Amino acid sequence: MRSPSVLIDDRSVVVDGHAIPGRWLRDHGDDAASLNPETKQRLVDTFAIPADIAPLSVSVDGVRLGVDWSDGARTSHSIPALERLLTSRRSPETRPSVGFAIERDLALWSSAPDVSWFDVACFDDDEAWQPAIEHMYRRGWVAFDGAELGEEAPARLAARIGYQRACIFGTLWNMNSGSFEHADSAYESGNLDVHTDGTYSHDAPGTIIFAQQLKTGEGGDSVLVDAFAAARDFQAAEPEAADLLTRYSLRAHYVEPGVHLIAERPSLRVDEHGVLQQVSFNNYDRSPLLPAAGVVDDVIDAYNAFRAVFSNPDRALYHEWQPGRMLVFDNWRCFHGRTEFTGDRHFKGCYTNHEDLESAYRLAGLTPPAL
Ligand SMILES: [Fe+2]
Repeated sequence: MRSPSVLIDDRSVVVDGHAIPGRWLRDHGDDAASLNPETKQRLVDTFAIPADIAPLSVSVDGVRLGVDWSDGARTSHSIPALERLLTSRRSPETRPSVGFAIERDLALWSSAPDVSWFDVACFDDDEAWQPAIEHMYRRGWVAFDGAELGEEAPARLAARIGYQRACIFGTLWNMNSGSFEHADSAYESGNLDVHTDGTYSHDAPGTIIFAQQLKTGEGGDSVLVDAFAAARDFQAAEPEAADLLTRYSLRAHYVEPGVHLIAERPSLRVDEHGVLQQVSFNNYDRSPLLPAAGVVDDVIDAYNAFRAVFSNPDRALYHEWQPGRMLVFDNWRCFHGRTEFTGDRHFKGCYTNHEDLESAYRLAGLTPPAL
């Protein structure tokens, strides 16, 4: 087999005459330090890569490319995979830049609001449900207390919104520390960066419901961030970068034995009327996609800049857990994450579709009916 020609040109690695920007390549190693070999989730800290990162030396061993970097790291790459990416470079959608609006009557929050606790009895009481669903609509999340342990409480909440959505994790799933039912970062005990779920799904879950069952040890708060407020503030500060994230689709994947999901959409999905509909961002699950030459730095800069805005800890709401507490949030509106924890931490949880959440808003008179 012909050996590819690989050389360094300034801050790029050139494979068979095609320059791959080092700043992109450093983020896309498939070695065990860069990518979890089982889940294919990203391990490299994307946001710590210096913008002026440069390859120092390259080596080829069969179909593998090795690169030593100016930050001391060494990454390894599949040359056939790089060649596929080079032939399918992605450009932003071209359309006039119009910015985006957030039209719904939302109470955007850029610092933690006070937490109102609703009693789970409201699941069966239309009058008591009204302020809870209105809180969800305005702020993107709502917290409950007083739940019996077990499956019934999350099932009743899902039924109040719509129905439990079956997915790769099951329908009503257990997320128990130490069980590793799925080899996903969500099942580990370290700090989990804020993200949205289902970036690998064409129709990402609309809501996420968590019901805590057991807690020992310290930490493990849920972290919520208003992604729409962050998007608004990002657009105000960096309109061109925000516009680029409405026009450039990112790809994401979920891999486990018997499953290989891929989907893609812009981080800021805006409808044809210029209204922000959905925020998607999960750096763990982001797939390699090489931006077209000429926009690589713009795409990386915009992606990193949006992350810098929404990961500011001043924006975070820390939700403290106890067994019997529940939380539901809009996965298209809010980022979620988790602080590091010790001990055992058990949840039952499920997803619902976004269309059912919208239906619940309509039934509560919060958005107009169709006719
Ligand atoms: Fe998640």
